[in-house]
Amino acid sequence: MESISGIRWIFNPGARELYYSKVPVKAFAENEVKAVREFHKGFTEYKPTPLHRLDNMARRLGVNSIWVKDESRRFGLNAFKVLGGSYAIGKYISSKLGIDMREVSFEKLKSAAQREKLGRTVFVTATDGNHGRGVAWAANRLGQESVVFLPKGAASARLENIRKEGAKACVLDLNYDDSVRYAKEYADRHGGVFVQDTAWEGYTEIPGWIMQGYATIAHEITGQLEVHGIHEPTHIFLQAGVGSFAASIQAYFADKYKENRPVTAVVEPNKADCIFKSAAINDGRAHTVTGSLDTIMAGLACGEPNTVAWDILRDYSDMFFSCADYVSARGTRVLANPVGSDPRIVSGESGSVGIGLLTLLLDREEYREAVRLLGIDRDSIIVFISTEGNTDPVGYRKIVWDGFLPTPGE
Ligand SMILES: Cc1ncc(COP(=O)(O)O)c(C=O)c1O
Repeated sequence: MESISGIRWIFNPGARELYYSKVPVKAFAENEVKAVREFHKGFTEYKPTPLHRLDNMARRLGVNSIWVKDESRRFGLNAFKVLGGSYAIGKYISSKLGIDMREVSFEKLKSAAQREKLGRTVFVTATDGNHGRGVAWAANRLGQESVVFLPKGAASARLENIRKEGAKACVLDLNYDDSVRYAKEYADRHGGVFVQDTAWEGYTEIPGWIMQGYATIAHEITGQLEVHGIHEPTHIFLQAGVGSFAASIQAYFADKYKENRPVTAVVEPNKADCIFKSAAINDGRAHTVTGSLDTIMAGLACGEPNTVAWDILRDYSDMFFSCADYVSARGTRVLANPVGSDPRIVSGESGSVGIGLLTLLLDREEYREAVRLLGIDRDSIIVFISTEGNTDPVGYRKIVWDGFLPTPGE
């Protein structure tokens, strides 16, 4: 492990070992993900989110091209998470009704007749904000109910946005992982359906659907790059909380390109770097980070990895990074103040850490070794997914207007 100025990294040479020895990723094969995207297309709000090209930034940093997928535009909900919650709820309802998801649209699932057969269902979850908003939105659209719990310190804008989707929602005096346990108990006690975006032994089906739901993003990206004659990026930076999102995107590219898949880097906050810690201990198992998980990257403030996601990330990721909060703040400022005529992107704290990291790696001599291990050079085609927009306006303004968390040494 290396560590410079609050940025730590671990290189995983095992990622490029023989493909057959790795955990299978068939659930993310092209035909599976195509069906997931078809389901999402059933929403009137569906539109691929923009994949922005930052040419001036690429020139400045000395790489071929930089692409940022802007998930602030997802279904008007300001984050990607609804892709997972909606797909899982769709799968749950269709399996209850005994119908094949491939033959039914979201509109049909919500029809009164189907609702009568299903009865009243309450979907229950815990969230830093984005996942709960997606679950509340999907439940509401289906004429069903939702109960959402947020961990202590959750921004009030996030709570209000969940309530606006018709959910019963409240902030607990617990950290994220304990809030998940609380939500599970609540669901069990009240006969609710627990829809959580993380898995553990004995609870894998619904989180598996959630992860498949996220893969729509990867499917869109490949199509959008093809338009520019790019068959595959060379590098992808994926931020992780419990790791569901990163593993989903990773798995899609792993199944599609096998040994030739892009180099992937998993990025987490120092204070909640459970995937990084698991990679550092290197006994093959997922490990936990405890405590208040105190980071501005609220969406990434998770101490217990999704065990299914961890297996994928362990086997396929080339590098693991753990970053101080200033890296995310820098990323938010960089995307808000583009180079030359590059598009401006509004990226919240959990969306911006990857680009903040890249600018530091390529700007500063001390990270030369990390850049070498990543194999980034002037031919690199690098993809980032800005997974949220300005989901906490107070925090966002503090960063962009007041220069909160300046980059050390600048
Ligand atoms: C904006 C944002 N980005 C990334 C993530 C990380 O996703 P995961 O917890 O699946 O690793 C989250 C999780 O809530 C999020 O809200």
